[in-house]
Amino acid sequence: MSRFEDIYGTAPEAQASAPGRVNLLGEHTDYNDGFVLPIAIPQQTQAAMRRNGQTQFSLHAAELGQTVHFALAQPPAEHFASYVYGCLVLAAEGGTAIPPLDIHVASSVPIGVGLSSSAALEVATLRCLRQLLGLALDDVQIAQLAQRAEIEFAGVRCGIMDQMASSLAGADRALLLDTRSLARRFVALPPSSSVLVLDSGIARSLAGSGYNARRAECEQAARLLGVASLRDVPGVDALAALPEPLQRRARHVLTENARVLQAVDCCSDAAAFGALMNQSHASLRDDYEVSTAGLDSLVALLQAQPGVFGARLTGAGFGGACVALCQAGALPEVSRAVLAAYAAAGHSGCQLVPPAP
Ligand code: GLA
Repeated sequence: MSRFEDIYGTAPEAQASAPGRVNLLGEHTDYNDGFVLPIAIPQQTQAAMRRNGQTQFSLHAAELGQTVHFALAQPPAEHFASYVYGCLVLAAEGGTAIPPLDIHVASSVPIGVGLSSSAALEVATLRCLRQLLGLALDDVQIAQLAQRAEIEFAGVRCGIMDQMASSLAGADRALLLDTRSLARRFVALPPSSSVLVLDSGIARSLAGSGYNARRAECEQAARLLGVASLRDVPGVDALAALPEPLQRRARHVLTENARVLQAVDCCSDAAAFGALMNQSHASLRDDYEVSTAGLDSLVALLQAQPGVFGARLTGAGFGGACVALCQAGALPEVSRAVLAAYAAAGHSGCQLVPPAP
């Protein structure tokens, strides 16, 4: 894996990193002003920068072995570069002159599986820029700029969970976030439990998927109910007036918000926490319809395994990763047994968290 020095022949002036995240509960609630409960994962993205004294920016992505060149007035065509470009343009719009830079990014966050590789890239880029130029941005403002970069430059109308998690969460405790007020606090995992993340091996394309369509359905449901967002609906009884599928979509959002708050109340009880994860998966599968047959079978194998308190798809869905809460000591055997059974059923999965040594 290349370093900044290998590509540009000199040391960087600034370096920063940011983690990916796995969401434990609260899926598709953030763009409805609801509650989420992500935790950072050990894998990080690193950004390094140096003023290059030229007229163009150079951006090298170590994983791709690719360098692209662009100016602020001339966007790069490569999709991966649009996240970095978006951050630079938004920082410039904030009133700071951004000089042309040599930029190097490297990442161990798994890409395209629902662990927020794009948020990690955005937050690492903005942290590095803050350090290089002394930008007066706090960690919440970094998350907000990163979210705008994703919406305005990568075309995903995402909520703010991923960028807040990458900017503010740690890997030892979960981050309970109210995405409306941005009020937040850290929540310990149930005692003697560990987080396992397995990749289903099913490819997922967020922008090309139904993500934006689901968000539009939620907005339509809120409009029909006469509220600013689904957060403002008092209870599921109020949903009876909605046509399908809007009623099911809104029911998922309301019940999922309630599950996050319940989980935080019972976070000393791993079995109760796990049961809420199982309910979340059923709701994402049946009401929100963002699961797939492969994800359902991986989740079913996890849920049936001794030592697993609960399991669900994580992230936007349509493929990608599943998360399970396991008895800490049982984790290696859970992972081995479930991946073997998943392979026997003709699929190809792998363990993502904890990362392979
Ligand atoms: C993606 C988005 C988030 C969130 C999740 C679903 O990760 O970036 O904002 O909506 O999907 O919970």
